[in-house]
Order: sequence, then C-alpha cells, then structure tokens
Amino acid sequence: MVILGFLCAALLGKQVAVSVSIPLVAPSTAVAVSPSLFSFSIEQDRWTDWAGSTSRNQFFFNTLDNLARLTGAPPHVRIGANSEDHTRFNAAIQATQLVFPAITTTVPYPEATNITVGDAFSQATQFLPPNTHVTWGLNLGQNNLTTAFLEAKSIVKAFSSSAMKNAGISLDAIEIGNEADLYRNNGARPSTYNITQYVRDWTTFATNVSSAAGISSTSSTKFWGCAFAGSSHSTSGFSPQSAFNQGLLKSTAGSFISTISQHHYSGSFCSGNGGLLQDLMTKSTIRGNLTAFKPDITATRALGLDYVFGETNSFSCHGAPGVSNAAGAALWGLDYALSGTQIGISRMFFHQGIGYKYNHIQPATLTRSILDGSNLPSPLPPHVQSTYYGAIIAAEAIGSSGSTRAVELSIDNIRIAGYAFYEGTKLVRAVFINSDAFLQGSATRATVHLDFNFSGSGTAPTTIGVKRLAIGHADDQSGLTWGGQTYETSDGRPSGSLVVQTGSVSAGVNITATEVVLLNFT
Ligand SMILES: *[C@@H]1O[C@H](CO)[C@@H](O)[C@H](O)[C@H]1NC(C)=O
Ligand SMILES: *[C@@H]1O[C@H](CO)[C@@H](O)[C@H](O)[C@H]1NC(C)=O
Ligand SMILES: *[C@@H]1O[C@H](CO)[C@@H](O)[C@H](O)[C@H]1NC(C)=O
Ligand SMILES: *[C@@H]1O[C@H](CO)[C@@H](O)[C@H](O)[C@H]1NC(C)=O
Ligand SMILES: *[C@@H]1O[C@H](CO)[C@@H](O)[C@H](O)[C@H]1NC(C)=O
Ligand SMILES: *[C@@H]1O[C@H](CO)[C@@H](O)[C@H](O)[C@H]1NC(C)=O
Ligand SMILES: *[C@@H]1O[C@H](CO)[C@@H](O)[C@H](O)[C@H]1NC(C)=O
Repeated sequence: MVILGFLCAALLGKQVAVSVSIPLVAPSTAVAVSPSLFSFSIEQDRWTDWAGSTSRNQFFFNTLDNLARLTGAPPHVRIGANSEDHTRFNAAIQATQLVFPAITTTVPYPEATNITVGDAFSQATQFLPPNTHVTWGLNLGQNNLTTAFLEAKSIVKAFSSSAMKNAGISLDAIEIGNEADLYRNNGARPSTYNITQYVRDWTTFATNVSSAAGISSTSSTKFWGCAFAGSSHSTSGFSPQSAFNQGLLKSTAGSFISTISQHHYSGSFCSGNGGLLQDLMTKSTIRGNLTAFKPDITATRALGLDYVFGETNSFSCHGAPGVSNAAGAALWGLDYALSGTQIGISRMFFHQGIGYKYNHIQPATLTRSILDGSNLPSPLPPHVQSTYYGAIIAAEAIGSSGSTRAVELSIDNIRIAGYAFYEGTKLVRAVFINSDAFLQGSATRATVHLDFNFSGSGTAPTTIGVKRLAIGHADDQSGLTWGGQTYETSDGRPSGSLVVQTGSVSAGVNITATEVVLLNFT
C-alpha cells in the first residue's frame, strides 16, 4: 500500500491534498484592506526620472494607472529615503544637480550624495496619475533648518498649482528625516545620538515646517513620524513607542502626526542563490518578519494613528541579485503585503530607485546591468520586473469596491497561503499562493490539490473562475503571465488574450510549486 501510494504520488507529480475551509460571510476577524495597499516609495534623488521633468513619463504613469484601473485608486507615492537627507534647495536652478559616488559591482546604481533642486523638482509631481496621494520627505540629516524650510515652501507651492489641483493630486504628509536611528552611524549626528535628541530635533523642524507648509489641526496635509530603519520594539532605544514616551506627540507640531511609518527589509544580501529565494518566499519567514512589529503597531493604533511601512522591500543592498528581481519574489511581495494587512499595516510602500534590483518598475532606459554594473550590449528600455505581477494580483483581489475586507485562511501546509476577500459581508474572491520554489534545473514540479468547503450560513458557490500567475521557474527573471497576459510590454500596459478557467468548486483546484491562483466566486 505504502509503495503503491508513493508510486501514485510520483506519477501525479507528488500531489498532496489540502482541505481549506472558507467562511461564506465575512468573519469578525476580516480587516479592511486599502485599495492602495501596494504603494511605492521612490528614492528622491532621481524623482524627475520617474515622474518626468518637463513632460509626463508615460511608462511610469501607465504602470501606476494599471493598478488604479483595478482598484479605483492609484498607489500612494512617498518621495524620500536615503537621498532625502542629502537634498538642498536653490530657487535659482531649473534642472536638478546630482553628484554620484563611484559605481561598484554590488551597487551599480548608487544614490546621489549631493542633490540640489529648484521648484521644478516638486512641481514634477503633477505628472502622477490623477488623485494620487503623496508624501514628501525633507532633509533632517544635514541639520539645516533653512534647507527644510525652503524645501517645504517649494513643495507647498507645487501642490497649490492649478495643474496639481486640477489633477486632484494631494499632499497627504511631510516626513522630516529618513532613518534618523542611523544618524549616529552615518555621521549625520554624534555617535551618542538617541531618541530624546531625535524628538527634540524633529519637534524643532516640524514646528517651523508646519508654519511654512500650513500644517494644522484642520489641514489635510499632516506629518509622518519616525521612519526608522530598525526598531527596538520596546519603550527604550528607537521605536515608535519609545518616541511617544519621549513626547513626540505632545508638542503642537507633534499633534499633527497622522501616521507612523517604519521601514523594513527581510535582510541584507549583496549576492543571492536559490536557497535565499526559497527563504524569502517561505510562509513562516514572511510572517516572522512582520509579527515582530506587533508591539509597535499596537502602541501606534492605541493612540488612534495610522500605521504604514513607509519603505520596505526584500533585501537591502538595493536587492539581492537573481533573488529580489526573480519571479519567485512576486509571490513574496503578494504574501507579505496581504499578511501585513492582518496585523494592522495599512499600506506597504515598496521602495524603488532607478536601476535597483528589487524594483517593481524600471521607468528609465538602463545602460548598465542592475546585477553587476557591467555595460549592457544595448540599452534596456523601461520595463516592469517580476514583482510587479504581485502588485497587480493584490489590486485585482482587493477590487474596486472601496470597502473590501480580507481574512487569512488557516491552511495546514507550510507552502500554501490563502486569503478570502469580502465586499460587504459577501465572499467574492480568494487568493492562494504556493511558495514552494521550483528552481531551474529541478526535476519534478510538485502540485498541491486544494479542496474547498464553506462554513457559515448562505448558499455555497458551485462554480469558480480561476486565474493563474504562470511562472516558468522561481529564479526566472521575466516571462511571467497573469491570466495569459503579460505586462512586460514597451508601454507597461497588459497585452495578450485573457485566460480565466471555469471550474467546479467540488473538483477543487490544483496549484503547482511557485504559482498563484485567484478564485472568483461571483
Ligand atoms: C473543511 O476543511 C477543514 C480544513 O480547513 C477540514 O478540517 C474539514 O474536515 C473540512 N470539512 C469537510 C466537511 O470536508
Ligand atoms: C556636496 O555637499 C557637501 C556639503 O554637504 C559639500 O561640502 C560638497 O562640496 C558638495 N560637493 C559637490 C561636488 O557639490
Ligand atoms: C523657519 O526657518 C526659517 C529659516 O531658518 C526662518 O526664516 C523662519 O522665520 C522660520 N519660521 C518660523 C515660524 O520659525
Ligand atoms: C543651510 O542652508 C542654507 C540654504 O541652502 C545655506 O545658505 C546655508 O549656508 C546652510 N548652512 C550651513 C551651516 O551649511
Ligand atoms: C539621550 O542623551 C541625552 C544627553 O546625553 C540624555 O540627557 C538623555 O537622557 C538620553 N535619553 C535616553 C532615552 O537615554
Ligand atoms: C525574515 O526573512 C528573511 C529572509 O527570508 C529570513 O532569513 C529571516 O529569518 C526572517 N526573519 C524573521 C524574524 O523571521
Ligand atoms: C489535479 O491534478 C490531477 C492529477 O494530474 C488531475 O487528475 C485532476 O483532474 C486535477 N484537478 C483539477 C481540478 O484540475
């Protein structure tokens, strides 16, 4: 019997059956999911290469607009990160002036060390899709209040222009300083710099900026607080709860903080391999990376503030080559963002920079390899990378109801994650992710068979629409299709005929290693 069982399993490609129970009516544990759950953080130095400097970068616009068409709302955009603490303002200049350090094989596209901008820099925000919500980061690192003041004035001027107003593009928030917990390591402050001093510096800057930018208890623009690289997850050291203890919210300017932002990467790897890719995709490591933030989120939410990951991605070092830009990383990003909703993270701002390995979107023509900086045989036009499909699938699962809720399904399998989506109380869709990394050179591709049963009152569906993310291998770097369509096109718009299978619920669904399926119940 045992031998027969093994033979059968081998013939069927090692098929394992997993039974999944799906509530027909939204359980009380289902959480509201923002249409802009998948949002983007853009490295500030080359902002005009993203948006366009004198006219719209249509490729970037299209990639954001694809998401807006699915959810009814474009992704939020944060313009900041490391380079925000190196930006200075000069009213006399039109084009941005950038000074770059030397290129290396591990960092082929470094951040500029000196960035001097004029009014045209923030005005370029007008090229974003209509109704985009924006957060701008100001320079705290260089400890020059005049710089922050002049930047704030220029940003507010841009957002009050008719172009921006007509497009409904709004300044949600200003962030003052990026990863101030690292200032003691990177020379921006003495090595003794602590949370007390951060709260004091932040309050000085925010008091000035709130006046310069018209931020008040009644303005729609607010502050983001913290934006730390790491967290002690306790009331000492650098963490949101520690900043609250030191009185971050107590000043008048502090009372204008609407949102606490924290940054997170799953690790720092400047080289990659299949094992690292499997680690990244693994259900338990994804949850481990997120649940560490529960104390921070609880402390923030208890004060009625919103909570986001204002900068996040797979691995720092701008990504691990062959891992962060691999097809399997699309499954990581999808599971990571959806899992984040379950513990109270409103939005994930996936960090992007021109030529970074972990980008979802490469909005500019590249002439050097993102993997090792070598010269490319021919220029590489703007394109999306594999992880972009994760953003598309999340957007499709959330849909355009504006009030979708989601719950993670309890699935007794280390490789299968699943989420059910509800509009009102009604079950509408479900997503399943098989994070078993099927790597190039592997012999057999395992399949898991999912059987469904429904709990709760109501009529259980009998047929389902099934849409699949087709991936050759987890370590492929292109060639994915979502429901038969590719987004790897010259204009970033999907192309190809849509393929949605119709299945019967009673037959269940097969999901292969390194695959995503979206079930539609309506
Ligand atoms: C429904 O699925 C659950 C697993 O989530 C399983 O424990 C249970 O036995 C299933 N019920 C039926 C009737 O198949
Ligand atoms: C870069 O900025 C620093 C001050 O932060 C300045 O001392 C230096 O001269 C600048 N370098 C260039 C090339 O502009
Ligand atoms: C803010 O700082 C600028 C530059 O130092 C200064 O000119 C301005 O008066 C300050 N505003 C307030 C309200 O302190
Ligand atoms: C601060 O920034 C202003 C405006 O860019 C500049 O004029 C001034 O020299 C800076 N101060 C210091 C101490 O670098
Ligand atoms: C931070 O350093 C200052 C100056 O040394 C000190 O007064 C303060 O108590 C320190 N804060 C914390 C939380 O240790
Ligand atoms: C976070 O993810 C990385 C990469 O997969 C993993 O190595 C690490 O152990 C995870 N951290 C936690 C706390 O689970
Ligand atoms: C799942 O795969 C098995 C083995 O290949 C096959 O017999 C079965 O029909 C498949 N089920 C569905 C719903 O596709």
